[in-house]
Amino acid sequence: MLVSKYNPKFDGCLHVQQYKQLSELYLENFNAPVLTYNEFVDRINSDDVTIYTFEVGDKVVATASGYLYPSLLHGGQPRMQIENVCTRKEHQGNGYASHLIGLLIELAEEKGCYKVSLSCSDKNLDFYQNRGFKQHEHTMRIDLV
Ligand SMILES: CC(C)(COP(=O)(O)OP(=O)(O)OC[C@H]1O[C@@H](n2cnc3c(N)ncnc32)[C@H](O)[C@@H]1OP(=O)(O)O)[C@@H](O)C(=O)NCCC(=O)NCCS
Repeated sequence: MLVSKYNPKFDGCLHVQQYKQLSELYLENFNAPVLTYNEFVDRINSDDVTIYTFEVGDKVVATASGYLYPSLLHGGQPRMQIENVCTRKEHQGNGYASHLIGLLIELAEEKGCYKVSLSCSDKNLDFYQNRGFKQHEHTMRIDLV
């Protein structure tokens, strides 16, 4: 088992093969459109995003990402938004997502973030609450596409 960490802006990106598996995971769990590797690199290389992957053998079986943003209301101090948390069905329940979320929280602490937040559906409220998150205010959105 191997945990890998990528920040395309600062440390280089995933390899093509790992991206291919990551995009399969995103498609399976979020019905996300599959970008080519070059599109993926182009679209995320200006963001401060850290992508963690959990690999078993040569397969990416779980992932979680953390985006860092400076907050104008906190003197530019960063906050982290966790996104894209998922584990392949046949590997769920082994603690992989919990482990990756823990690593993101450690990273947020190292980076001096004042908070870590995420949005989730009702069905995952218990999962995050059991991992220390608490419900706070509401997420509002307008769908543009
Ligand atoms: C939610 C998800 C990421 C958990 O991944 P995982 O690797 O199986 O998680 P872990 O093994 O670290 O944790 C599993 C634990 O969470 C519990 N759990 C998993 N999904 C849960 C849910 N929706 N609600 C409550 N508990 C949940 C399991 O029962 C298990 O409990 P335990 O610690 O008492 O054994 C995974 O179920 C998944 O990929 N779901 C589909 C995609 C998704 O909804 N992602 C979240 C987007 S915000």
